[in-house]
Amino acid sequence: MSLLITGSIATDHLMTFPGRFTDSLVVDQLDKLSVSFLVDDLEVRRGGCAANICFGLGALGLSPVLVGSVGEDFGDYRSWLERHNVDCASVHYSETRHTARFVCTTDADHAQFASFYAGAMSEAREIELAPIVARVGGTDVVLVGPNDPEAMRRHTAECRHRGYRFASDPSQQLAFGDGELIRDLVDGADLLFCNEYEASLITSKTGWTREDVLARVGTWVVTLGASGVRIERAGAEPVVVAAVPATATPDPTGVGDAFRAGFLAAEGWGLDHERAAQLGCLLAVHVVECVGTQEYDVQPDAFLARGVATYGEAFGAEVGPHLTGLSARG
Ligand SMILES: Nc1ncnc2c1ncn2[C@@H]1O[C@H](COP(=O)(O)OP(=O)(O)OP(=O)(O)O)[C@@H](O)[C@H]1O
Ligand SMILES: [Mg+2]
Repeated sequence: MSLLITGSIATDHLMTFPGRFTDSLVVDQLDKLSVSFLVDDLEVRRGGCAANICFGLGALGLSPVLVGSVGEDFGDYRSWLERHNVDCASVHYSETRHTARFVCTTDADHAQFASFYAGAMSEAREIELAPIVARVGGTDVVLVGPNDPEAMRRHTAECRHRGYRFASDPSQQLAFGDGELIRDLVDGADLLFCNEYEASLITSKTGWTREDVLARVGTWVVTLGASGVRIERAGAEPVVVAAVPATATPDPTGVGDAFRAGFLAAEGWGLDHERAAQLGCLLAVHVVECVGTQEYDVQPDAFLARGVATYGEAFGAEVGPHLTGLSARG
């Protein structure tokens, strides 16, 4: 199976300031603002939607192809992804910019100062898919995930032009994109992924009704947080799949990406969309329960048992054979 996952590759640098920012701000001097906070904790987390999705696919034993743009600082992150089965050979390196980075300092009141540096991501628009498809010998699906908007537009256009089957996953770019961009990213996708809020952004910004969207995509997969996921197709009743109950929810960041990984893996194994959504929910709950987006692993026996407990024996019968040979990684 050949899966090309395009989108952001980034790290989050999260710092904690034990005091309160407001104690350091002098309101009538804000025009001369220059403050520095002594933080007592720095956590660097691996992220970016494309990298997260690839990590999830790797955890399930697949070897996805990561397509995105990074800086020379990508070395350690690349090694980590390669150790987790991700093909990084087609990642584009910027000669001048660093890998995208989110930097955020949070104080004792949960007030935040944050910045996002897109950096090398803006060069993703220079990536052509055809040479990558040629290198890996074909493509079953190209996922067009959140990225530099011009890169998303280019990847989508190339998929339509060359007849590559594609999954549209515009996520956070829906908040910034206008109707024209969103129509362009969605039209002709075999799969459209979004959450419920993003689904309403799609219809309101494009001016399309739900039926209009369904006429333009194969299957619309709308995640509903703890309520699971809704699968819609033109002319069919929507199917709702329940989520896997979480034992704890310390950090929901990255759940959507893990869901997509599980869904695409099952779909690639030839399982139907309902089963694919179940595997997506099962992988996603592992992310809900840990801090960070790539800090979980799949222990095949326990993983499968949990799926069976939620979705029944048929889940085990269909998914189980694909997890044999999967050794747990730390
Ligand atoms: N509290 C939860 N308990 C169990 N499963 C959850 C929970 N929250 C999310 N999930 C699972 O993750 C999937 C995706 O969640 P959600 O709809 O919140 O995505 P999202 O809004 O795109 O998240 P993000 O963009 O932060 O990754 C859901 O379909 C569900 O299977
Ligand atoms: Mg999301």
